[in-house]
Amino acid sequence: MLISGNIILITGGASGIGFCLAEQLVALGNEVIICDRREDKLTEAKTKIPKLTTRVCDVSKEEERIALFEWVTKEFINLNVLFNNAGIQRDINLLNMDRDWSYYTEEIKINFEAPLHLSSLFIPHLQQQKNPAIINISSDLGFAPLSVFPIYCATKSAIHSLSLTMRFQLRKTGIEIYEVIPPKVISELNYESRLRTNTLHIGQSTAEFAAIIIKGLERGDLEISYGLAEKRRTASRTELDEMFNSMNDNVKDFV
Ligand SMILES: NC(=O)c1ccc[n+]([C@@H]2O[C@H](COP(=O)([O-])OP(=O)(O)OC[C@H]3O[C@@H](n4cnc5c(N)ncnc54)[C@H](OP(=O)(O)O)[C@@H]3O)[C@@H](O)[C@H]2O)c1
Repeated sequence: MLISGNIILITGGASGIGFCLAEQLVALGNEVIICDRREDKLTEAKTKIPKLTTRVCDVSKEEERIALFEWVTKEFINLNVLFNNAGIQRDINLLNMDRDWSYYTEEIKINFEAPLHLSSLFIPHLQQQKNPAIINISSDLGFAPLSVFPIYCATKSAIHSLSLTMRFQLRKTGIEIYEVIPPKVISELNYESRLRTNTLHIGQSTAEFAAIIIKGLERGDLEISYGLAEKRRTASRTELDEMFNSMNDNVKDFV
């Protein structure tokens, strides 16, 4: 993929991996639009990178996804890259799911339904553009799940599967489908859990990982991963089973 001269929408781009990627893509000469659900975070992002265009959008809501698509394709008629980045992660005890059901479906809506719906909205538009691409972000936990995050890991496996089928179905359209598979990256994803488990500072920096994404896109790597994520991406089923067992042996159970 060309890494300059694009017009790119990054969902959930006001912090973490999305924000660092936006910063590096702007420096490379791309027009970058970020959306996020909180206006204060977007204002902070815009103060740090004045060239950014920002838009409030909660991607868990169907009507807001449609409004985002209509607005952005009117304002940026040659937008050619969609990066489905927004995501959340929650600890879920499958033996005690006593919250309102919407609490559980929110993770599915943000991590899986939004990338699927946004892609479906953007595909006809992207087909008319030069160098079009969709970038989905899954996780190494989509390959070997951590049992405390059952919904999160399932949504990320689903993103991997969707990326494969989307790439196949769109192979004659000219739209390139990339899948970014991060290892643990230092960010605010599931902040409470990272705080509780004293892992806030464990992982790769967002700036380093954003640079890896850009290098991967430039090389045309359809699956972009690094470190442990690369091991999990390429592991055999037996190796994945071993990883699953050792990862989960060390996890404090809910019961
Ligand atoms: N960090 C890791 O270790 C890691 C590993 C593998 C995969 N990933 C994936 O990488 C992506 C980025 O995560 P990150 O680590 O950069 O976490 P992050 O710092 O929490 O960034 C995620 C961004 O998405 C936004 N967002 C969440 N729900 C949204 C919604 N409904 N509508 C619009 N924006 C929303 C968040 O806003 P709020 O602050 O308001 O929630 C936040 O700005 C996620 O898909 C995550 O699953 C991360």
